[in-house]
This record gives sequence, C-alpha cells and structure tokens, in this order.
Amino acid sequence: MKKLKVKLDTNSYEILIGSGGLRHAGHQLKEKGFAGKVIIITNPIVNKLYGNALKQGLTRDGFETIFLEVPDGEEQKSLEAAGRLYHELTNHSAERTTPILALGGGVTGDLAGFVAATYLRGVPLVQIPTTLLAQVDSSIGGKVAVNHGQLKNNIGAFYQPRLVITDIDTLNTLPAKELVNGLTEVIKSAVIWDREFFVYLERNLEPIKSLDAKLLDGIVFQSARIKAEVVEKDEKDVGLRNILNYGHTIGHAIESVSDFKMGHGEAVAIGMLAAGRISNRMGILDQQELARLKCVIEKVGLPTEMPSLKPKRLIQAMEHDKKVLEGRIRFVLPKSIGTVFITDEVSPSLIERTLGGLE
Ligand SMILES: NC(=O)c1ccc[n+]([C@@H]2O[C@H](COP(=O)([O-])OP(=O)(O)OC[C@H]3O[C@@H](n4cnc5c(N)ncnc54)[C@H](O)[C@@H]3O)[C@@H](O)[C@H]2O)c1
Repeated sequence: MKKLKVKLDTNSYEILIGSGGLRHAGHQLKEKGFAGKVIIITNPIVNKLYGNALKQGLTRDGFETIFLEVPDGEEQKSLEAAGRLYHELTNHSAERTTPILALGGGVTGDLAGFVAATYLRGVPLVQIPTTLLAQVDSSIGGKVAVNHGQLKNNIGAFYQPRLVITDIDTLNTLPAKELVNGLTEVIKSAVIWDREFFVYLERNLEPIKSLDAKLLDGIVFQSARIKAEVVEKDEKDVGLRNILNYGHTIGHAIESVSDFKMGHGEAVAIGMLAAGRISNRMGILDQQELARLKCVIEKVGLPTEMPSLKPKRLIQAMEHDKKVLEGRIRFVLPKSIGTVFITDEVSPSLIERTLGGLE
C-alpha cells in the first residue's frame, strides 16, 4: 500500500492507501502497537459489505472484534447516537487503550471520531473510510463532530486519528451519486492547490469515473496528500485551512435553500464555478481557466447551471453560515487553477448578479 504521512508533531500519523487494506488491517494495527480488543463503529450497509473482511483481517492477527452498528444517515451524527455508543462502550468494558475503528463514510467517521475524542477523555481512533469523500477528505485532518439542532458539525473537536487505512476496493460498491460527491472534492483539491493534478484530471476523468483501480489509487493518493499538506500548515483551521471550503460557501447555501433537493456534490460543484465566475468578473481569474474548470465539472456529470433559486435567499443562507466574519461573507476564490485566495471584499451586487445565473 502507498503511504502518506501527516506531520503534526506528536499527533502525526500515517495514511495507508491501496487495494486490500481491510485484509491487512490487523497487521497494520499491530505495527502501531495495538493489541487485544478493538471496537468497530459502522452502519448496517457498510457492515454487510465489508464487516466480515475487516473482521477476518483483524482476527487473523489476534484481535478481538466488537462491532457496533449505528443506522445509516446524516441524522445519526447526533448527541443521541453518541450517547448510545458511550453506553455500549461501557457495556463492553472499553478502556482508555481500546481503539475505536470507524468503518464507513464521513458520517460514521465524524460520529465515531467524536465518540473516540470524548469517551474516557479520548481513546485511540483509526479511520477506515469507505466512500470517496471520506477517503480524500473527511478521514484526514481530525475534525470530528455531531450536528445539534439545525446546525451542522457545531459540537465537535480536533482529534487526529492514529492511523487511516484506505482500501480503495471498497469504492467498487459505492453508488454513482456518492462517487460523484467524492469527485467534487477531488476537483476542489486540484483547484486550490495543484495545477498539475488538475491537468491530470482533465486528461483522465473518463477512466476515473469507470473506477479504473490503478487511476483511482492515484487520485485518492494525490487528493489525500493535498488535504494532509493543508492540514499540516493549519491544523486548527485558523487561516489557510479555510481554503478547503472552496465552493462550499455558495454550495451550502444552495443545499439549504433547495431544501436539500440538490445534493452536496452538485451544490459544491456549482459553488466552485460561481466562485470562479466571481473571480473572473473581478478581473482575476482568466476566462480560459474558467472554461477549463467548467469543462471538468461537466465531464464528471455535475451541473454547471445555477438552479433557479432566489439570489437574496442564497445570500441570507450564506450570512447564517459559519463562513461569515463580522457580517461579511468570506469567499475562497481561484486566482488561477491551482491557487486560491480568501476574501471578504466581494461587492454585494456582484454576488447577487452571479447567483442570478452563471452565464
Ligand atoms: N470531518 C471532516 O473534515 C469532514 C469533511 C467533509 C465532510 N464531512 C462530513 O462527511 C459527511 C458525508 O460523508 P459521506 O459523503 O461519506 O456520506 P455517508 O457517510 O453518509 O456515506 C454515503 C452513503 O454511502 C454508504 N456507503 C459508505 N461506504 C460505502 C461503500 N463502500 N459501498 C456502498 N455504500 C457505501 C453509506 O452507508 C451512506 O448511505 C457529512 O456529515 C459531512 O459533514 C466531514
């Protein structure tokens, strides 16, 4: 498996990426000094698909496995679900040294991570992401959280995993919609950080979409590397890490104003393009670069047209978002493909004009 290191002083860890990761999980955990009992938090869908493979991979190396299931769905990222898990951990006599393995997508990773960060003031966490989004984004960087009331991720912590095991074979069963969600984050990584990677994506999107294992391995690795590099420079999200929100300021507003009829990936794709358009209208992003961005988004099968939602409502939604600083909406805008900048100086009329239609 390919190895990436996230360098965060005493919180440093490795990300292992490749085929067959589940089968070798026991060996990898042993190498990191773990032994005995491990708790696996997952959901019924992922457990049915991959629970057995992971169990075998762990028992072969002498681990005792306890699987805890949480129902599927974003609504499970809650204090109630965390409460039930604390209860089960106590019933299974989990101790300070007992690792929690998060097997699943971003929902499982965020919830299991939150529980690991808080149970007994913190037990070791191992992320085993099974969606493309989780493999390239949510399993890396230590943001763990639950939702509370109407607010997303507003109760949480920075809690780095001890290890991330990314088995790209799990992507074979991923529904197309989830794959596209993940590809949005892959495109985001390239636009914010790595022009060469963007060129690679432009040339290879077709085989990537058809899940060519060799290419997938590479794009997961490159995207994970970018996330790791950004996190290393700003672990606690006080500055640079904000660039990971590229496309999300407008994207979240679209999701919320459309009553979540528009999916996350689709909304963020439109958000990335709208941010590109704003930058272009400010005289920063070149027209050709904007066209290339649009082309890649189109090729993935993501929308490029602004949905017919009222710009004023989108602006209101953005104003309620966490990305507002002293009342001004903060945008991450591309300067050119591979470089972005953060600004809160976009004129309200330009925002409104852009949200009224991308063309
Ligand atoms: N912590 C972070 O830094 C961070 C970053 C980005 C997103 N997130 C969070 O991630 C969450 C979204 O994550 P997600 O997109 O992975 O959604 P998800 O966890 O809900 O997974 C999507 C769907 O795919 C299913 N699934 C998972 N793996 C599968 C597989 N291999 N085969 C078939 N089905 C599979 C799941 O059961 C679920 O139905 C959100 O809650 C978001 O807030 C966190």
